[in-house]
Amino acid sequence: MKLTWLGHSAYLLEVAGKNVLIDPFLTGNPSAAASADQVEADYIVVSHGHGDHIGDTVEISKRTGATVISNHEISLWLKKQGVESTHDMHLGGSHQFEFGRLKLTIAHHGSILPDGSCGGSPAGLLFQTADGTLYHAGDTALFSDMSLIGDEGITAAILPIGDNYTMGPEDSIRAVKLLRPTFVIPCHYSTFPIIEQDVQAWQQAVSASTSAIPMVMQPGIAMEIASES
Ligand code: NI
Ligand code: MN
Repeated sequence: MKLTWLGHSAYLLEVAGKNVLIDPFLTGNPSAAASADQVEADYIVVSHGHGDHIGDTVEISKRTGATVISNHEISLWLKKQGVESTHDMHLGGSHQFEFGRLKLTIAHHGSILPDGSCGGSPAGLLFQTADGTLYHAGDTALFSDMSLIGDEGITAAILPIGDNYTMGPEDSIRAVKLLRPTFVIPCHYSTFPIIEQDVQAWQQAVSASTSAIPMVMQPGIAMEIASES
């Protein structure tokens, strides 16, 4: 699978010939590596309702016709915004899509939508693809059930490390120990001053205290991720 960081928690996942956008917050994102009126998408997956995750979902879906996958409450809201193609799911549920199987996992956070509507429960995203398993934690605190997600066998885990709104660097390392991924990718840091982090120090701490390989990505630069098996 090919993964491109678009800044903050936004990624483009290319797998099985499909473009899957995750949490496409591009407009107003100081680290955005793509613009909402140009990015390609067959699917958009939204972890929760906050503006820095739902981002440009409505506009991109309307332009590209991409199917938006989210929890039920966000799906209802998207329909009210005129999004035609949605697929609603909920926590613990998985579904086979063209790009692979996606399961919504728990996340401990909020999910209110930009206009104050209820966004249901926030989610983490577990993608089981032909090229390996990718876990995007969404915005979350550390929780011990991450070990259950780790039991699924994770190729790469994308974890927030920014602190203040989500796990910080230290808790993210405890998360790595529970998740046991081959690769760990930091997100949701240094987009704004309040979540500024020293990512090189984090990288060194991951290498020193876990067996995961830290992968610090640069926005806009695609990386290939392959499972060892
Ligand atoms: Ni959030
Ligand atoms: Mn966020």
